[in-house]
Amino acid sequence: PVYPKAGSYPDFADLVDDSRAQVDRRVFIDRAIYEAELRQIFGRAWLFLAHESQIPNPGDFVRTYMGEDDVIVVRQRNGRIGAYLNSCPHRGNRVCMVDSGKKARGFICNYHGWSFGIDGRLNGTDGKVYDKDPGFQKSEIGLTPVAQVASYQGLVFGTFDPEAPSLEEYFGPFTWYLDVMLDNDEGGTEFIGGCVKSTVECNWKFPAENFVGDILHAFWTHQSGAEAILGGAVDLGSRYDERAFQASVYGHGIETNLDKVGNTRTLGFPELNDYVLGRYEAVKARLGEVRARMVGAVSSCTVFPNFSFLPGQATFRVWHPKGPDRIDLYTWTLVNRNMPERIKELYRKGTMITFSPGGVFEMDDGENWEYCTKANQGWVTRHQKLHYGLGQDSGWAESSLPGHIHRGSLNDANQRQFYRRWAEFMRFDSWGDLQRAETAPPAKPMTRAAE
Ligand code: FES
Ligand code: FE
Repeated sequence: PVYPKAGSYPDFADLVDDSRAQVDRRVFIDRAIYEAELRQIFGRAWLFLAHESQIPNPGDFVRTYMGEDDVIVVRQRNGRIGAYLNSCPHRGNRVCMVDSGKKARGFICNYHGWSFGIDGRLNGTDGKVYDKDPGFQKSEIGLTPVAQVASYQGLVFGTFDPEAPSLEEYFGPFTWYLDVMLDNDEGGTEFIGGCVKSTVECNWKFPAENFVGDILHAFWTHQSGAEAILGGAVDLGSRYDERAFQASVYGHGIETNLDKVGNTRTLGFPELNDYVLGRYEAVKARLGEVRARMVGAVSSCTVFPNFSFLPGQATFRVWHPKGPDRIDLYTWTLVNRNMPERIKELYRKGTMITFSPGGVFEMDDGENWEYCTKANQGWVTRHQKLHYGLGQDSGWAESSLPGHIHRGSLNDANQRQFYRRWAEFMRFDSWGDLQRAETAPPAKPMTRAAE
């Protein structure tokens, strides 16, 4: 297979002005910049594909996207997971039309009947013409495999870059935060209730930056939704709350306020919140106090570039780019496998009430991101800069926690890191430069004792 090489786009990288904490609006609307993102970011980064629980048996598969590339993720006979471009090597037709399936024996192209194994190999053609063509070498043709596929705590990721570092290196010490959701119980996690898909007419970076560090919007944007569900505004505390912080590693980021445990209330079922609080001691014994509090705190997270989740609300999502001004939003509900069925069901209902296309909070957010995208398209408007300066004065905090830590979660710190990382992906064509870049986390060994 041929995997396109990265380039270097210093002019685009310069659109993120670190010293002034400004981002040029063209990064949200410009087609040439978007094409560079497909190459530099979606062609190289590790991208979320599936949860292992979706495809437990050989032949089980889901269809998804990596950037705009249509991809089939399928469990192999040896138990490993493979991912292949969903595009026939003959004329490019999709070979898989459905979103998911169980125990498939292979995929057959609609156009001329070529058939492929679940390992991507070409098994047969039309049986009449091609097979009798003396120059035709069946063994040399197949579905293009995704260069690397790997799992972390049940989540499956893929990258088109054979040179990309391992998935764990790509996360770096950010795994410490991912484990808040993925490893707070010995039974592991699963997705329940299927995948909810919707379209939002916005640039993919608006939702990604919202989840990486924009808790600020919640008390304003989500005021009315919070009143409907909670009978009052979301309680965010003050800007420099002692126990609130943002953490950032390689552009991945999480924000949290450890004083506000009980955030699961926003899903609308008090019983759910009681359940989370009731598990506090068990989680503390497993992950330590900081992360035990994070399980039920006001928190949000983005894994660079386009995979996000809310630890308290159990919603996981990918912002699939579909041009500079559109995304397909895929969302799932993640629960611990060992949770009682009743609790799982409350989580599923809760995410539907809040963070689904008809959910109170999703609609609030989607409308804002659409108008951010549309308004920035104005010819004069696009040449102005956007402000990302909140909290710039206070700098990084000394901390034993992994990554860059910024005290207080009401600031733009993680968003600045997200765009720095974006600029590094634009500028650098090698992973060596990317990993050495200034967003690299301080080399601190992190152990549970450090908490
Ligand atoms: Fe698939 Fe022709 S396009 S068999
Ligand atoms: Fe929101």
